Amino acid sequence: MDTFEAIKTRRSVKNFDKNYKMTKEEINQLLKLAILSPTSYNIQNWRFVTVTDQTIKNKLSELSHGQPQVSDASLVIILCADLNSWNKEPERYWTNIPEEPRNALVISLRNSYNGKLEQQRDEAMRSCGMAAQTIMLAARSMGYDTCPMKGFDYDSVGKMIDLPDDHVISMMVVVGKKLKDASPRGGQLPLSDIVFENRFKNV
Ligand SMILES: Cc1cc2nc3c(=O)[nH]c(=O)nc-3n(C[C@H](O)[C@H](O)[C@H](O)COP(=O)(O)O)c2cc1C
Repeated sequence: MDTFEAIKTRRSVKNFDKNYKMTKEEINQLLKLAILSPTSYNIQNWRFVTVTDQTIKNKLSELSHGQPQVSDASLVIILCADLNSWNKEPERYWTNIPEEPRNALVISLRNSYNGKLEQQRDEAMRSCGMAAQTIMLAARSMGYDTCPMKGFDYDSVGKMIDLPDDHVISMMVVVGKKLKDASPRGGQLPLSDIVFENRFKNV
């Protein structure tokens, strides 16, 4: 499937075959593609909690207002981020480059995030958003469907997955074999409402 086709056919699917199991290799392939998503400074601050166990998926569904796609999809990925990844051996984000530019990047990275809680959280959400879209398009190319989700109890899910204190949850993406098409698209705004050439004017 080419990229345009994956983008056009990605929809938030709610009905999945609950008996369908993705293989470990497929899940691994999806995650290997996810980590090719861009992150600022190559900080790779996302952390992925994968759930295939039916009992845990059922519990996650309960914590998601009973939304059935959580229990029925083959895989639930909880996209989290480490807010302090900027301060955890940042040299490891550039192992392939020479020491001098690497050290310069470490200094710049620390300056960007040290003591800047809003920046740390923004970066968490930016990185996870990028990874979520990669996961959804890659899954589509593998013949699967997805639903991105924020409709769940973040605190309870955090407790359930032992979320470390310096991590946050961004969203979930469920992946599986579609049983029923998504409802027709809600409708896209016209480009004229949302695209501005060079600057906002006459809003
Ligand atoms: C951050 C985010 C959170 C969402 N949360 C939910 C959710 O909890 N449950 C749900 O059924 N759909 C959820 N959606 C799906 C949206 O409703 C859906 O993307 C939107 O209606 C557009 O439809 P489409 O994805 O099929 O194009 C979420 C989407 C995003 C991007």
